[in-house]
Amino acid sequence: MREIGVGLLGLGVVGSEVANVLLQRSARLSEQVGAAVALRRVLVRDVTKARPYPLPSGLLVSDPEAVLSAPDIDIVVELIGGEDPAHDYMRRAISNGKHVVTANKEVIAKNGFRLLSLASQHRVDLRYEASVASGIPILSPLQQDLAANEIGAIRAIVNGTTNFILTKMAKEGIAYGDALRQAQQLGYAEANPANDVEGIDAAYKLAILASLAFHTPVKPSAIYRQGISTLHPRDFTYAHELGFAVKLLAIAKERGTTIEARVHPALVPLDSQLATVDGVYNAIQIEGDLVGTLVFYGRGAGGRPTSSTVVADVLTIARNIAMGGIIRPRMELNRRVAVMPMSDVETRYYFRLSVGDQPGVLAQIASVLGDQRISISAVIQKELDPVAQTAVIVILTHPSIEKAVQTAVAQLAALPSIKQVGALIRVEQ
Ligand SMILES: NC(=O)c1ccc[n+]([C@@H]2O[C@H](COP(=O)([O-])OP(=O)(O)OC[C@H]3O[C@@H](n4cnc5c(N)ncnc54)[C@H](OP(=O)(O)O)[C@@H]3O)[C@@H](O)[C@H]2O)c1
Repeated sequence: MREIGVGLLGLGVVGSEVANVLLQRSARLSEQVGAAVALRRVLVRDVTKARPYPLPSGLLVSDPEAVLSAPDIDIVVELIGGEDPAHDYMRRAISNGKHVVTANKEVIAKNGFRLLSLASQHRVDLRYEASVASGIPILSPLQQDLAANEIGAIRAIVNGTTNFILTKMAKEGIAYGDALRQAQQLGYAEANPANDVEGIDAAYKLAILASLAFHTPVKPSAIYRQGISTLHPRDFTYAHELGFAVKLLAIAKERGTTIEARVHPALVPLDSQLATVDGVYNAIQIEGDLVGTLVFYGRGAGGRPTSSTVVADVLTIARNIAMGGIIRPRMELNRRVAVMPMSDVETRYYFRLSVGDQPGVLAQIASVLGDQRISISAVIQKELDPVAQTAVIVILTHPSIEKAVQTAVAQLAALPSIKQVGALIRVEQ
């Protein structure tokens, strides 16, 4: 039986589980592939560090070349994370004729197109299913099972940390800072949470999803991004009264000759499936013109769920090698579609305004919105603070253009009767 050699880069949260699956299930996996799949070497920084699973001696190495250029390794699995040296190691592995599997959203979102070209030149495969939503198979369905569809829209909850924080704020009415601290204590958020709470991680994943869905390279830097740190617990209460939940959504839509691509908090209807995705779970909703609406739901983080998709990618490549097939990474990014500027996007909006308790305020607000052709769909007035003599007005609009809404916000903020524009949240239906 031919042996297919696998080399791992990294033995952390994901790498440990991948190594364990490859070692413990070796016989069954080899049977499925029709060739022995052998884990030959694992690159780490510190070979003396204690590891969660016992590994056969001699497997750990600290010299990258022992994996990247070893003749007995066919598939290199990159699980180091971050941009460098992971990107450099992937390039070197591909240039040495190795197939590559990775879970690295940052490298794929920023450099995936160039890496796929390099892999194509060297006639090797590059697979990255785990880079979006961890254990949920979504990239392969997008590229294969949904290939006959024109994709109209993607709406996704792809960051478990922020979804955990938003769920806590919604269910327990606690402030953002308290919910973040709980996420950190439970190991769901990093000491520096910026990548998650500012929407950077979600934008990397959206860049990958949108590129594959619309067959065009979408750079993370082209994606509009707003994080969750300014959300206030009272907006969850008011949104609920209006029939909505608040989620950090990654949204991409086909818009004629352009696409929309944006990551921001959004109000989603309480009766939608996305509204029911709580805690660290992820969900990706896809609209295809033939298939209709699909929702992929599951664990979007964790070593074991991620090992499921990483090992599946390894097995796909191993099967192709065993069958002697010509392997070429699918590179169907053959369109060039620009991302629409955020100022041109049309959607519904939720405003929360603190206003002076005086006659005529509502008329002033309606006049500013009317001048910008923003039409109101619902208004609720809340709590009069008798000491400060202020009230809260919440407004839900019909679809309006972002540019007009931003102009209206600036004009409202300048009105003497408006104490504060407390929140502006987009609505996604
Ligand atoms: N964790 C998740 O739930 C999850 C989910 C989906 C995707 N991912 C992606 O999976 C990848 C790995 O994440 P992780 O959570 O497993 O990371 P991690 O726990 O931090 O593990 C990183 C591993 O890489 C090794 N490493 C780091 N820098 C290195 C270097 N310069 N040279 C050699 N080895 C190096 C570390 O070695 P030492 O052990 O010696 O320190 C460690 O074993 C990332 O791209 C991440 O985005 C993670």
